[in-house]
Amino acid sequence: MTDTPTFQLDGEDIPCRPGQTVIQAAQAAGRYIPHLCWHPDYAPHGSCKLCLVKADGRSVAACTVEARPGMQVENRTPEIDDQRRRLLNMLFVEGNHFCPSCEKSGNCTLQATAYEMGMTNAHYDHFYPDRPVDASHPDVMLDFNRCIMCELCVRASRDEDGKNVFALAGRGMRSHLIVNSASGRLADTNFAATDRAASICPVGVILKKRVGFAVPIGRRAFDALPISAQMPPAPPAEDAP
Ligand code: FES
Repeated sequence: MTDTPTFQLDGEDIPCRPGQTVIQAAQAAGRYIPHLCWHPDYAPHGSCKLCLVKADGRSVAACTVEARPGMQVENRTPEIDDQRRRLLNMLFVEGNHFCPSCEKSGNCTLQATAYEMGMTNAHYDHFYPDRPVDASHPDVMLDFNRCIMCELCVRASRDEDGKNVFALAGRGMRSHLIVNSASGRLADTNFAATDRAASICPVGVILKKRVGFAVPIGRRAFDALPISAQMPPAPPAEDAP
């Protein structure tokens, strides 16, 4: 017998501590709740809504809601996964995600989550936005076409690197990632390939130059195991060894 408080996740007892969110407790117990903008090293952002669960019958974001003893949480139900699939569909059409030619393929959390959710097509019409890449920096390239606006790079650069290189600009449909320099070019910042922000992107926006295919397709993080089988989930993987 143990006195550790628990809540139920898909009918299974999960230990929880005061102040722990549902996703933190689930991850600590080795249970996967789909997510994109949450990262264990940063405060929850609550923007992607992939971590949607039902807690005592109410739809909530598992990364922001506290796990309370006795709570009944539904996670991987067909209905909730269907809603997640719709969110993923929207993310895929809103940017330009051409997985077969993307050097992040196999290491991409968006791609891996779409596979996990059984997404087979984009469903909606593609926007095909016109977003030029920024290859100005000697060591890092930015391909804004793949941005999902999780703000992990914004948080890492601001809170960990102390540089504030990235920001989101615009509102609603016009929201987009920008570089904080007068020219808007990465080369005109103090960004470095060794920054945490250079390794945090869950998709293929921030790419280190000259190491793109150091780990070949077929031997990458999500080629070996689906994202739900990697607990804790594989961090956005470095392409370089
Ligand atoms: Fe919770 Fe994005 S992971 S809202």
